[in-house]
Amino acid sequence: MKKITAIIGSPRKSGRTQKVAKMFGENINKFVNADIEYVYLKDYNINTCTGCEACLKKGEEYCPLKDDISILFNKMKEADGIIIASPNYSLQVSSITKIFFDRLAYVFHRPCFFHRAWIPIIVEGAYGGKSILKYLNSLGSFWGFDVCKGACFTLPVNEVMKRKTEKINAELNKRARTFSKVLTAEKPPVPSFKRLFMFRLIRTFHKNNPSKEFVKDYQYYKKQGWFDSQYYYDTNLGILKRIVGKIADKFSLMQAKKNN
Ligand SMILES: Cc1cc2nc3c(=O)[nH]c(=O)nc-3n(C[C@H](O)[C@H](O)[C@H](O)COP(=O)(O)O)c2cc1C
Repeated sequence: MKKITAIIGSPRKSGRTQKVAKMFGENINKFVNADIEYVYLKDYNINTCTGCEACLKKGEEYCPLKDDISILFNKMKEADGIIIASPNYSLQVSSITKIFFDRLAYVFHRPCFFHRAWIPIIVEGAYGGKSILKYLNSLGSFWGFDVCKGACFTLPVNEVMKRKTEKINAELNKRARTFSKVLTAEKPPVPSFKRLFMFRLIRTFHKNNPSKEFVKDYQYYKKQGWFDSQYYYDTNLGILKRIVGKIADKFSLMQAKKNN
């Protein structure tokens, strides 16, 4: 049984976002036996980040805001897959979803969600959702997730949703098939050239330029064994990727020396 956390970022608990997320859940269960928990961000107390940077520099345990963010983080950590469903609000995710992301911004520095599937779903009235999907794919990838291409649904009113139910279901079924494959994969994917290059740039820089400001990042990378690994996790890099990794290491070392 796979565990999935569906995070719903709509402030409306009976809106179209949750409806589409639940339809997606039903489709997932056609491919894989999954226990899906629907988590409404609006039910949790999540304070707005004050920008103190304590989580980035010293560690998330130094965040002065005491609220429900760690409950949500743990739900993500315990899941095999995450569905992140948000309405399009002013060409972005809803404000509550963005507040949630900001509170976990330290994960950009210290990614931790490896070998977990991630899929975004956007529901909108008219326009702009495609670029939100891009943003969410990028965010998931930075946080370490195995990212599945999400979907955007343009549904201005409930009438349209009713009329389009079959079409929506067909699209969700396609995405659910891919999501289930990633969810049940034995190993995380071999990284793309871009992801590999980024990892090697960052880790070689940390290794050779231990920042006094970002101590926690240095310690985290060291503890994970990333100063000596090919990638975040064990993976089979072909010859070309190994060469690219070495080039990134060299380039980053030069930058670190310049910085020193
Ligand atoms: C504050 C606000 C901003 C919105 N901005 C956009 C937008 O930029 N583009 C768009 O296509 N729809 C926009 N919409 C429409 C919603 O995305 C759409 O109604 C969606 O279904 C709302 O999700 P819900 O049904 O779960 O509440 C906006 C709605 C609200 C309330």
